[in-house]
Amino acid sequence: MTNEFHLGGEIPISRLGFGAMRLPAHSGINGAAREPETGRSVLRRAVELGVDHIDTADFYRSSDGKVRANTLIREALHPYPAGLVIATKVGPVFGSDGPAQGTAADLRPAVEANLAALGVDSLDLVYLRIGMMGAPHGESLAERFEVLAALREEGLIRHLGISNVDAEHLAEARTIAPVAAVQNNFHIAHRDEMQVLDACAANGIAFVPFFPLGGGRHELRDDNLTKVADRHEATASQVALAWLLAFSPVTLAIPGTGSLAHLEENMAARSITLSPDDLADLG
Ligand SMILES: NC(=O)c1ccc[n+]([C@@H]2O[C@H](COP(=O)([O-])OP(=O)(O)OC[C@H]3O[C@@H](n4cnc5c(N)ncnc54)[C@H](OP(=O)(O)O)[C@@H]3O)[C@@H](O)[C@H]2O)c1
Repeated sequence: MTNEFHLGGEIPISRLGFGAMRLPAHSGINGAAREPETGRSVLRRAVELGVDHIDTADFYRSSDGKVRANTLIREALHPYPAGLVIATKVGPVFGSDGPAQGTAADLRPAVEANLAALGVDSLDLVYLRIGMMGAPHGESLAERFEVLAALREEGLIRHLGISNVDAEHLAEARTIAPVAAVQNNFHIAHRDEMQVLDACAANGIAFVPFFPLGGGRHELRDDNLTKVADRHEATASQVALAWLLAFSPVTLAIPGTGSLAHLEENMAARSITLSPDDLADLG
């Protein structure tokens, strides 16, 4: 298993990255604020440990709006180390009623907000995130993806991705512009939308599971996972990450944490090599 992936066929990144959603609040979006200095420490330590792919969004913020993932990233890491890829996502809008799907007209302002917050002239990777929870089957993303494709042509975005999609969305997007990455809900206990993963593997597109640790829920408490973890003197979280990386050469893991101890634990998953017996036990 190689630990490196070439994003968009050109940018080498480690397959184990970092998700920034948990830095501002435990719930990621609109929860009670976490301590900002801890978030900055987690980001600095992540880069020390070799993270060169951070996943974020301008809407990752605490409920009081005071702690924001993009601000923490800029404060902790700007000027950014060479080779660091910061991926962000646009699409959802957040009003007083909570999250809703935005329109094509919302996308340019969202991209500009990310550029400003991160302090960059161009974004490395921008996902169009569609739907609520689960791919919105049958819904066209063309009008919105064309806006992002135009922003890429303008030089504001280097690579494009799509998130929360099915294989038809990926095929539709690829008629408009190259797709470098797909970000979907996928982990050892949740293996939906396999056709989109297959299409990514066939075309050298990164498949970036969100909720790689099950979103911190109890889904990772499984006897087989515990058995394999014990065999490696590892934790269930570490084996879940090693499994994702073993599952396909195009999977990239972006575990989210606001905890230094969990960050260290997650990054140590790189040293776990699952055997054929382990993989059989994990199903
Ligand atoms: N495209 C989308 O729609 C979408 C949706 C959700 C997430 N995302 C992206 O995907 C990234 C990963 O998803 P996620 O953060 O929601 O879920 P996750 O990585 O599956 O799990 C994160 C949760 O697990 C906990 N955790 C992390 N490491 C742990 C460990 N070693 N042991 C025990 N608990 C641990 C975290 O709590 P602590 O903070 O206390 O460690 C947090 O509650 C996000 O950060 C975000 O960048 C994208």
